Amino acid sequence: MAMSDLDTLLNDAQAAFDAAPNAAELENAKARFLGKAGRVTELLKGLAQASVEEKKTRGAQINQLKGRIEAALNARRDALAQAELDVQLKAQALDVTLPGRQRGKGGLHPVSRAIERIEAIFGSMGFDVAEGPEIETDWMSFTALNNPENHPARSMQDTFYVDMKDAQGRWLNLRPHTSPMQVRYARAHAQRHASDAAGTTMPEIRVIAPGRTYRVDSDATHSPMFHQCEGLWIGEHISFKDLKVVFTDFLRRFFEDDDIQTRFRPSYFPFTEPSAEIDMMFGHGPLKGRWLELAGSGQVHPNVVRNYGLDPERHIGFAFGMGPDRLAMLRYGVNDLRLFFEGDLRFLSQFR
Ligand code: PHE
Repeated sequence: MAMSDLDTLLNDAQAAFDAAPNAAELENAKARFLGKAGRVTELLKGLAQASVEEKKTRGAQINQLKGRIEAALNARRDALAQAELDVQLKAQALDVTLPGRQRGKGGLHPVSRAIERIEAIFGSMGFDVAEGPEIETDWMSFTALNNPENHPARSMQDTFYVDMKDAQGRWLNLRPHTSPMQVRYARAHAQRHASDAAGTTMPEIRVIAPGRTYRVDSDATHSPMFHQCEGLWIGEHISFKDLKVVFTDFLRRFFEDDDIQTRFRPSYFPFTEPSAEIDMMFGHGPLKGRWLELAGSGQVHPNVVRNYGLDPERHIGFAFGMGPDRLAMLRYGVNDLRLFFEGDLRFLSQFR
């Protein structure tokens, strides 16, 4: 066989490899040239009858051809693999211009917002902010606040009792109001004063104490866990007039409505005398013209002042207790208190 036949074979192989559109077809083409019954194998078989001399030269030529065909095959294999990779890369391409997936932004709970507002406004009027324990002693929740033992006033709040006593053998409860904080704060203040500056004028006590409170109660406007904010202002000349001014000013600033009016309605609490419910009426908006009950208040009872460790002949003032949950409902237009405590993001994310 002439040299040109070998060249033709090489060209045929190259053409067949180039025409193979994928790896499987390429392997078929390979079999046609290099396989057991392939054309190159046939050539080698044909040498069997050749002379020794011819075997040597032709054999070398055929082997060279085989090497070239294999090189062409490998080149085509690489090209096909590369093409496949390109297709895959294109299909799985990252679009770096797509907006990224973001972590949801958190926000303050509406009740926390209301409490922060309360703190900021009273803070600007010189009130300190105090926090206290949610598990209280019977003495702090009731006795110190002038609820005589076994007096029906003790059941004014539906208290959750804790089946445990403190080190002094006093029963514990989940505080049903923040009023124990009047006692805790005033006692600490009076003691500090007694040790620091005996005999000099007692500086004023001006504090608010927001926090969680608990009662056996649950409906659209009551939750077994709710919030209160206590206020206490004790000094030598603090009167109901100051309470009216401070509270009215607070409400006007809290709701950003300068036309809010307040009304003090006679009431009863064991720890204040006289006592009053504070009602308010918006000057604007959908609730304008309706009296809304907002807080309990009154002049601190002399027995309570005594329990502060102060002299009720000298120290006089007022206390109030309001509900930040209710303030938040009014400010944000929420009509069901329970929404605040269900943790539903569809509700909460509206306040981000
Ligand atoms: N502690 C009272 C309540 O929970 C509110 C209050 C506080 C009343 C302070 C008077 C003075 O209803």
